[in-house]
Amino acid sequence: MRAVWVLADLHLAFGNPGKNMEVFGPAWKGYAVKIEKNWKELVGENDLVLIPGDISWAMQLKEALIDLEWIDRLPGEKLLIRGNHDYWWPSSTKLKASLPPSIHFIHNDSFDWEDISFAGSRLWDTPEYSFDSYIEFVENPYAKVRGPEELEAKQANDEKVFERELHRLEMSLDRLKPDAKTKIALTHYPPIGPELHSSKTSTLLEAHNIDICVFGHLHNVREKSLTFGKVRGVRYIFASADYLDFTPLKILK
Ligand SMILES: [Fe+2]
Repeated sequence: MRAVWVLADLHLAFGNPGKNMEVFGPAWKGYAVKIEKNWKELVGENDLVLIPGDISWAMQLKEALIDLEWIDRLPGEKLLIRGNHDYWWPSSTKLKASLPPSIHFIHNDSFDWEDISFAGSRLWDTPEYSFDSYIEFVENPYAKVRGPEELEAKQANDEKVFERELHRLEMSLDRLKPDAKTKIALTHYPPIGPELHSSKTSTLLEAHNIDICVFGHLHNVREKSLTFGKVRGVRYIFASADYLDFTPLKILK
């Protein structure tokens, strides 16, 4: 039986060694070695691993391909969506032509594998919910310092980006195979808040009969303090690499 796994936010830096997650804390020390070891121990050649965004620190496709080829050498097929740090992500035509054979992606479309249909989009920050109280903030040397005017402009822009992402998600969900046995959504940003109250995204997922939604984006979550789980028919699985101790999590077998 072929299993489905998830591991988000690999943040690989083979193609851009100047950027490295180890500056974010001791958990990230040697993270690529940890990912490789755990992945090879667990994932079978015929399995599928979902990677919901923040795949590579690269700025250009040429650099990202070094990371993507590293991913290609790991067992199984892989399914990607774009995260907020994946600046290297090119047009779908270019990406399709460049990706190594075991790697697939979703961008405004869907992906079918066995009797499972996958949809997804990156999403964005939303004022609907916040995870601030769950995160151990560490000083981020790459973070931008913004003045009040800049913050206001950012907020207005955030709302626009979020609405656009929600629309993209809907387009993708509309393309799910209607008779698929299982329907899975990938988002990079969390689609729902920590209390699992209805959100714009969760409402959309429910309307499209999604069984499982996987996501990442949050880092330095206080140890196991953040559990999601099943609500209104959708199982929410938070899969940031540091939260999962750089170990793929099996979600279906
Ligand atoms: Fe992210």
